Amino acid sequence: GVAVLAALMCVLACSPADQPTSAADEPPAAAEFRPGAPGIGDPDFPKDGNGGYDVAHYDIAIDYTPASRQLAGVTTVRAAATQGLSSFNLDLSGLDVRAVTVDGAPATFSRAGAELTVRPAAPIDDDATFAVKVTYSGLPDAARDGANLGTYGFIPTSDGAFVASEPNGSKTWFPNNDHPADKATFDFSITVPAGLTAVANGEMTGRPTTVGGKTTYKWRERHPMVTYLATATLGKFLLREGRTPGGIPNFAATDPAHKGSLDKLYRLSGEITDYWATVFGPYPFSSTGGVVDDYSAGYALENQTKPLYGGFEPDEGIIAHELAHQWFGDSLSIRRWKDLWLNEGFATYAEWLWSEHKGRKTAEETFKELHAQPATDPIWAYPAGRARPDDLFNQSVYSRGAMTLHALRQAVGDTTFFDLLKRWAAEHRYGHVTTEQFIALAERLSGKELSPLFDAWLFQPRRPA
Ligand code: ARG
Ligand code: ZN
Repeated sequence: GVAVLAALMCVLACSPADQPTSAADEPPAAAEFRPGAPGIGDPDFPKDGNGGYDVAHYDIAIDYTPASRQLAGVTTVRAAATQGLSSFNLDLSGLDVRAVTVDGAPATFSRAGAELTVRPAAPIDDDATFAVKVTYSGLPDAARDGANLGTYGFIPTSDGAFVASEPNGSKTWFPNNDHPADKATFDFSITVPAGLTAVANGEMTGRPTTVGGKTTYKWRERHPMVTYLATATLGKFLLREGRTPGGIPNFAATDPAHKGSLDKLYRLSGEITDYWATVFGPYPFSSTGGVVDDYSAGYALENQTKPLYGGFEPDEGIIAHELAHQWFGDSLSIRRWKDLWLNEGFATYAEWLWSEHKGRKTAEETFKELHAQPATDPIWAYPAGRARPDDLFNQSVYSRGAMTLHALRQAVGDTTFFDLLKRWAAEHRYGHVTTEQFIALAERLSGKELSPLFDAWLFQPRRPA
């Protein structure tokens, strides 16, 4: 309307040079290119992840020297724009950024908190793919949240680093889209002083190479992975490699302080991975295993293909838990942190199933014991289906989450329940899931109206009858 009006006025008053050109010749309206949002849209973690693009692949090359704690990194992020981008953000905390290029051209950048804003030399079209290369260095600083999350991210240890990043600590060692709603494949090239070992996700691509007293390990995770599951745990390690009895490549590593647990870790990880494949359906990744480091994290983490145990020798229960996460949490990822019970409730229920499988306590017995906890127990006040950002890993998310699955099993029967677990894992393999989708599938397969059950177990701040 404005252009038509201007043209009409020009007919009356303008010189030919002032007349508007045709639409095809006009430069694109400024609104076609906008800054990407500084968060991916999770209301509980508003700054985590970013908007405007979707990452396809990370290529992470780091050189780390434990004695000086210096990290030098070059991370290339391949992404597709989901809007026209005048600028976009990556998440990165600490470290000094020395240069950023977009498709090889130098880009300007700025830092504010954990947001790295990149302004490419030329704006990026909607749907276009682009590659951002960030060169950085410095002393990585782990994330610390004493009350709830402990220490996580890239954690320097006496002989290397313990790298466990759930929920949002991967930004402490490489620039990325730090939220589980964006999955990508990964290549790692990790250079350490000769004599140390670096363990990342997936499988090694070729033998490590040593030049000038430094050894480079190359790893590739070729299945989609969320950022918090990426690891580059390094230090002195003893290794055992082979295959599970069922034929899946199996890689176990322990710090020398825990060398007595290497064979047990290797054997149990193999046996349990094979068993879960019979219960949950085919193993989703190309290798399995585990890593025991001597850093006392107070937790373990289900790093994709390489669960990491922080300073303790894992028993069958926790190995069963972390390996069940390979299906529930790793292959199937949550889109929003509030749905965390879809990870932790399932992995905890898997511990009960493992015990039952071994002829020890049945899931029913564990369920009854927990359900018998007094109505005043704090797990009943915390609705497991709505993980709270200030208390994400509350015990309720684990044990009430698992009780929810057992209550469901009782309601639909074993045949439907175990069919549901397999179908859930198959339908959303390598994808994203929500609680609503799980309830819908459970109702579809059982033909039952299950919302009262899920409401009582997941969403009410009281002990279900
Ligand atoms: N997902 C882990 C588990 O297997 C827990 C991770 C806790 N993270 C943390 N920063 N404390 O249960
Ligand atoms: Zn867990």
